Amino acid sequence: MSKLKIAIQKSGRLNEESMRILKNIGISIDNGKDQLKASARNFPLEVFYLRNGDIPQYLRDGVVDIAIIGENVLIEKGQDLPIVERLGFSKCKVSIAVPKSSKSKSLQDLEGKRIATSYPNTVNHFLKLNKVSADLHVINGSVEIAPNIGLADAICDIVSSGSTLFKNGLKEIETLLKSEAVLAVSPKISNESKTLLDTLQFRIQAVLKGQN
Ligand code: PRP
Ligand code: MG
Repeated sequence: MSKLKIAIQKSGRLNEESMRILKNIGISIDNGKDQLKASARNFPLEVFYLRNGDIPQYLRDGVVDIAIIGENVLIEKGQDLPIVERLGFSKCKVSIAVPKSSKSKSLQDLEGKRIATSYPNTVNHFLKLNKVSADLHVINGSVEIAPNIGLADAICDIVSSGSTLFKNGLKEIETLLKSEAVLAVSPKISNESKTLLDTLQFRIQAVLKGQN
């Protein structure tokens, strides 16, 4: 019998809550430490622990059937991938921030400036929309440090509690989008896996309803 293959974040904020929702729908996973793949004991499900940014391509290629992923990552890298369920957790924003002392108050004020971000497609989209041209510096993590080391005038990154912005002396000037965890599906999912997904989704919906 075939198994439904799900990708979840390997480590980071989404990992814990993704594991929790699987537990809440009654799925128990043999989770050996440092394992990148694990099987459920009581459901035909295989869990792949992957890096966030790699998940859209795995879905596209049909290496995994479904994924629990931040909508912000799909907007950045997987606009083509269908979302079948909004999961209501890991809510965050993708925002532009500048040093507290900066005179920049909006996207327009960033004309000709340098923006550090891990979300180049998202930032470019909004810059175009607002007819602003800026110089993007793509970095993969600890983006908020960029203005302090003279690498950028502004940053664009995820804001959740706001603590990272605060600790780095930055203030938010624009919210580009709001995001939450979603269930995304591979365009290549087989009919057999789709049937398993229906069962899983039915359980998820029951749990989400119970929480409201
Ligand atoms: C994420 C994100 C922000 C921060 C936002 O970084 O890139 O920096 O969390 O959360 P907050 O508003 O609650 O502070 P993370 O700590 O995951 O590390 P990374 O940037 O190195 O990936
Ligand atoms: Mg960060």
